[in-house]
Amino acid sequence: MKRQACIVVGSANMDLVVTTDRFPFPGETIMGHTFTAIPGGKGANQAVCCGKLGGRVEFMGKMGNDRFCDQLRKSMKHDGVKLGHALTDPRHSTGIAMITVDASGQNEIVVIPGSNMALTPGDIDAHRCVFERGGVLLLQLEIPLRTVSRAATLAKHEGLRVILNPAPARVLPDSLLRCVDILTPNEIEAEILTGVKVNSLRAAEKVARLLLGRGVGSVVVTLGAKGSLHVQHKGARLYPAKRVHAVDTTAAGDAFNGALAFALSAGREVEEAIPFANDVASLSVTRFGAQCSMPTLAEVERFRRK
Ligand code: ATP
Ligand code: RIB
Repeated sequence: MKRQACIVVGSANMDLVVTTDRFPFPGETIMGHTFTAIPGGKGANQAVCCGKLGGRVEFMGKMGNDRFCDQLRKSMKHDGVKLGHALTDPRHSTGIAMITVDASGQNEIVVIPGSNMALTPGDIDAHRCVFERGGVLLLQLEIPLRTVSRAATLAKHEGLRVILNPAPARVLPDSLLRCVDILTPNEIEAEILTGVKVNSLRAAEKVARLLLGRGVGSVVVTLGAKGSLHVQHKGARLYPAKRVHAVDTTAAGDAFNGALAFALSAGREVEEAIPFANDVASLSVTRFGAQCSMPTLAEVERFRRK
């Protein structure tokens, strides 16, 4: 089957990452270990994941006219992401994320979205030709909701498969959910979307079914080290993740989504694409950082043979 392009509409941030033994308590000052500035942002991370795997991928987003924009563009270009529809807006600074990673590999993140929030539905309309070339549209929620909705509506109209990674979590209108073929919340996001606590597999399936009832085509709840649960009208299936030593879980969800879009746009069935995405994401958590933690296809194949 012919490989189709994957279009990612979303954010790009410079990640300002510090490492510590543990997270500070409110009001507490602690000494950390390292500081690094690393290309990130959910949209750009997902595009880079797809590009590094060898996918045809196009990123559409908005950055400021500054040094971080240059570095982010360079990183995406290096990993094979096409930037013909990546916009610059000199009125805003490029988005940044302040990230703390503790010794167990967990993170805390605060995002200052900057130019990401200036990507408008009008920008999507002006660049709608990008959808004519795509097979899959991949979206997240670090850009305005109305822009996400516009992109999903246009892509659906053009016959693309729409994947929405609802991160960071927020309540979503049914009009958007009805345009989504695959929704990929983690447990916290699934809970915020439905108001139902996700503390077991049974609860994850229950919230996924609530989302199916609101018009989503199918739901993949990502479950961290436990893997991911795919729920469709016809049934549910758990895809366990391989056991790894997690160094930094930042962008695990991005690796999962980028790899899922890659596999689907390469013509794989969803039953094959989900365990592949699990493996890409599990491999990414064994490495530090966001975009720099994404593996190549050769690395994933080696990991799968082990
Ligand atoms: P993040 O916000 O850290 O980017 P997330 O919360 O969106 O991630 P998770 O559900 O934590 O997403 O993880 C996504 C996928 O990454 C999981 O479905 C799994 O395949 C893989 N993964 C995450 N953590 C681990 C782990 N500790 N060991 C193995 N695989 C993992
Ligand atoms: O999902 C990880 C990403 O979330 C980081 O790269 C950071 O930029 C935030 O957007």
